[in-house]
Amino acid sequence: MPTTVIILAAGQGKRMRSDLPKVLHPLAGRPLLQHVLTSATALKPREIRVVHGHGGGQVQAAFLGQPIGWFHQSVQKGTGHAVQQALPKIPAGDVVLILYGDVPLVQPATLRKLVAKAARGQVAVLTAGMANPTGYGRILRGERGAVLAIVEEKDASPGQRQIREVNTGLIACPAGRLAKWIGRLKPNNAQKEYYLTDVIGLAVRDGVPVTAVAAESEDEVLGINDKAQLAAAEKILRRRLAGQLMAAGVTVVDPDRIDIRGELVCGRDVVIEPDVIFEGVVHVGDGVRIGAFTWIRNTLIGAGTVVHPHCLLEDGVIGPNCEVGPYARVRPGTEMAEGARLGNFVEVKKSVIGRGSKVNHLTYIGDATIGEKVNVGAGTITCNYDGASKHRTVIGDGAFIGSGVELVAPVEIGAGATIGAGSTITRPAPPGQLTLERSKQLTIPGWKRPVKGG
Ligand code: UD1
Ligand code: CA
Repeated sequence: MPTTVIILAAGQGKRMRSDLPKVLHPLAGRPLLQHVLTSATALKPREIRVVHGHGGGQVQAAFLGQPIGWFHQSVQKGTGHAVQQALPKIPAGDVVLILYGDVPLVQPATLRKLVAKAARGQVAVLTAGMANPTGYGRILRGERGAVLAIVEEKDASPGQRQIREVNTGLIACPAGRLAKWIGRLKPNNAQKEYYLTDVIGLAVRDGVPVTAVAAESEDEVLGINDKAQLAAAEKILRRRLAGQLMAAGVTVVDPDRIDIRGELVCGRDVVIEPDVIFEGVVHVGDGVRIGAFTWIRNTLIGAGTVVHPHCLLEDGVIGPNCEVGPYARVRPGTEMAEGARLGNFVEVKKSVIGRGSKVNHLTYIGDATIGEKVNVGAGTITCNYDGASKHRTVIGDGAFIGSGVELVAPVEIGAGATIGAGSTITRPAPPGQLTLERSKQLTIPGWKRPVKGG
């Protein structure tokens, strides 16, 4: 049976104390609402509709290009009123699945259970047993255990507040019936709102069976209202993603200290030390080791490569059997070929480091093409910027650049050339020869150090 998903996301999220609309706050690098959209999409629904309100334009802009029907709720008159905005023109035979934009960890398998019940004509409510149910709507059951109604905390009697079975807010229901019940809602309650939850009582009155589907865990239905809950969700997700990596054979040294803000794909026998942050799409080959305190974004890392601690790697390709760091910064557009090495305090930008080449210490390489088996000495700098434009440096295979060399681009160093330490190279250096630029060393005979007051 076709499913239409309605995601409620019009709330302001006051308790976030932020200018950013609540559903745009990032969780594992993606907006809260994106997590809900991803779970909803896994069900292959006919349509996804989002009810937005606060910061509406900003919310829509963040999901541009995704197949979403947007419905504006200008005044927040309650969850029932929110659903009403998105009901027009849903075929009566559909199942409607109602999700919350701020309940991001819900799993597709759970949603499928709800939809399956609704496809059989029932109303399905996702419930959870909560150690501390404060603030939630409570599930009221009859003597034989049948669900009778949901009562909101603010409307509940002291006895009802003892109930620990709560409404998570997520509901699936046949569309035709839902439309009728929503039309009958009245704001006769403590908050003067149109409660979606009153649909349950109306269903029972009409003799339609209501089923409670229990969530896998409290975690799955965690609602995000403030930064503390956001951090709690981040922690749960971090554990979940680390669990998936470990199940696939990755050694995650401390599953509480890895951040995956995007997509991380690992080969066999990968080791990830604590406090590594992954962003965007990162692919890691077999046998790679990633050292502690490292940040990696949109990067491919070849098999057998070792990334030592304290590195920043962004938008690059690192070949197999390379070594990077400690304390290396690989900026966008860098490509390291097999067996290349970047050592400590080395920054590389938009450059190719050829096979087996070494740039080991205290060096800046920008806009350069370095051939194979090149050795770049400590403290070398490509002077790639003349204050107006960037220029390229080309270094041929097997060249040896002495320490403390400045290569003033555009400049070319021939294959097998040797550049003497301390040179400032401004013209092409021929292949196979020693080129150096150095003023003559002087010793002044009889020179005396000045003496104070002398
Ligand atoms: C709701 C449920 C409660 C449940 C709880 C779970 C009702 C009446 N109560 O309570 O039983 O235990 O969720 O978290 O449904 N929203 C709109 N427009 C509105 C009001 C809300 O879009 O006019 C959206 C919010 O952005 C949010 C969701 O609906 O994503 C829930 O709203 P919220 O105010 O947090 O619901 P509660 O009153 O906490
Ligand atoms: Ca010099």
